[in-house]
Amino acid sequence: MTRQNASQQASSWDSRAAAYEESNAATSDTYARQALNIVGVTPGQKVLDVAAGPGYFSILAAQAGADVLAVDFAQGMVDYLREKVRRLDVENLRVEVMDGQDLKLEDDSFDIAYSSLGIMLFPDRAAGMREFCRVLKPGGLGAIVAFTGLEGHGTYRLVLDALEMTKPDFERVVPDPRFSLTDPDIFRTEMLTAGFSRVNMFTVRIVQTFDSPETFWPLLTDSPAIAHVFNDMTEDQVQAFGDIFAELVRSRQGDGPYGTENEVRIAVGVK
Ligand SMILES: C[S@@+](CC[C@H](N)C(=O)[O-])C[C@H]1O[C@@H](n2cnc3c(N)ncnc32)[C@H](O)[C@@H]1O
Repeated sequence: MTRQNASQQASSWDSRAAAYEESNAATSDTYARQALNIVGVTPGQKVLDVAAGPGYFSILAAQAGADVLAVDFAQGMVDYLREKVRRLDVENLRVEVMDGQDLKLEDDSFDIAYSSLGIMLFPDRAAGMREFCRVLKPGGLGAIVAFTGLEGHGTYRLVLDALEMTKPDFERVVPDPRFSLTDPDIFRTEMLTAGFSRVNMFTVRIVQTFDSPETFWPLLTDSPAIAHVFNDMTEDQVQAFGDIFAELVRSRQGDGPYGTENEVRIAVGVK
């Protein structure tokens, strides 16, 4: 059996909800708003958010009056989102632990399904896509967000540049499930194979801003996607990486404002 990347294991996400929120809220919220504009959620619709994490789309859809179910396989993410729902006093939003590759949900039961930066991580992506389509009503809309590739991921390229300067033996090209769904033709074909009747694609490019490189890098080093690299390093090496990261950012962007450009593709299918 292929060894799974940390980002494919629920335990990696359990304790990461708050840090993920801190580093990714602005980008993921923007992708969710764009997708919401495209699919046009209306009051009373039944909406599903698969691999919801901190629930950006779920919250927007519930605030638009939809009846929303958010699912994620990591109990820590689910607890975090439940607490956020309470804190923000969001109505009509339930959160459940569930594997996106095996949804414990009825066929043909949702008007809209959304999954952002989740399905691309699934070891059995075909099952994830099939399940995502199965639970939609005929005519329902499914929106899937995935990275367009390393070239379009400015934050990760910055991390790799700093890693290369920290560890000369660092292997830059490693299999990374985050970049498993970057080819638009494959993306479309997989959605059609899963049961969608047609698919349109939209590219969204935004700037991920941060206050300072010193506060930004610690949010990145425990990302499940690259945890394996930092787990192999001593504390001193991680600190050295942080210093190099900060120097690199300052050499490119001076005293700020700081930001990296990041790009995703939103594929919207009609069942
Ligand atoms: C990169 S985060 C994306 C979170 C959120 N959707 C967003 O747009 O920011 C990936 C999320 O997918 C969840 N996840 C990964 N594999 C999963 C699976 N097989 N089933 C359900 N959730 C999964 C993780 O727990 C994590 O919350």
